[in-house]
Amino acid sequence: MADPVDGVDIPWEQARATNLANWDSRVALHVEAYGLERYREDPAHLSTVVRTDLRTLERHLPAGTLEGLSLCHLQCHIGTDTVSLARAGAAVVGVDFSAPALEAAAAFASELGVDATWVHGDVLEARALVDRELGADVRFDVVYTSIGAITWLEDLAAWARQIAALLRPGGVFYIRDGHPFLYSLDETREELVARYRYFTDGRALQWEDATTYVGDGVVTAPRTYEWNHPLSETVTALLDAALVIEAMEEGRTLPWRFADRMVELEDGDFAWPGAEADVMPCTFTIVARRPA
Ligand SMILES: C[S@@+](CC[C@H](N)C(=O)[O-])C[C@H]1O[C@@H](n2cnc3c(N)ncnc32)[C@H](O)[C@@H]1O
Repeated sequence: MADPVDGVDIPWEQARATNLANWDSRVALHVEAYGLERYREDPAHLSTVVRTDLRTLERHLPAGTLEGLSLCHLQCHIGTDTVSLARAGAAVVGVDFSAPALEAAAAFASELGVDATWVHGDVLEARALVDRELGADVRFDVVYTSIGAITWLEDLAAWARQIAALLRPGGVFYIRDGHPFLYSLDETREELVARYRYFTDGRALQWEDATTYVGDGVVTAPRTYEWNHPLSETVTALLDAALVIEAMEEGRTLPWRFADRMVELEDGDFAWPGAEADVMPCTFTIVARRPA
């Protein structure tokens, strides 16, 4: 892997097109490596991500369950978490800008007999896409996004406005994503050493990496652009979109191996070894509500 370049000035459309090519090229590898057979073998199987998320999310739902609620899953990828949310009772709509990812998601859901609707396009245009595909009166009880989502977006204020516009009054937004302090670390070092900017300014971090986070395959479009977002930026974006924050958590585990020396746990998640687990956060979670 070439050394990443921090502080790259690149127009959003150009960065998005580069990232799209990268995400399209990961789909076939992920269909092989995401463990789809577990969902086929066990009709009750839910992803570890969704099982973890439900423990927090359900506390903020009217009847303590997704049963009977409408849910919009932003950046749904190949649909494993979307299917899990549907199995937990939600009527799901998945949004993603990768057409191959949505094709894989649709094939997977229909093979499993799971009802789901897929909306293709940029998450920063999600409201207009849902208007066009499903109707302007469609509002969701829950908007959900998780794990590896906002680092692909430059403009969190625009993202938060989409979320607010997708929610019905009283609806709940849930996010669990990689912690921005984690993203500032040098993942190649044998100790915890910060390398990348935590406080960012709109300029991107450019990666050249032919691997992906599951399996051994290589991608044909290795370049990506990412934006680290300090926690305060995410919180401020949601508050500015008039959402009310109800809960915030920070977690010690991740569903992917961020650094080689992370240890695998029984449920397949990863953690920093020993006492480092108490030093470095892995994720943050925010639950926010659109006022009724
Ligand atoms: C790491 S996945 C997150 C999904 C989930 N955690 C998973 O592992 O299935 C990131 C997803 O974001 C999507 N994505 C990235 N930028 C996007 C954008 N601007 N609009 C919509 N989707 C985007 C990618 O296509 C990819 O499916």
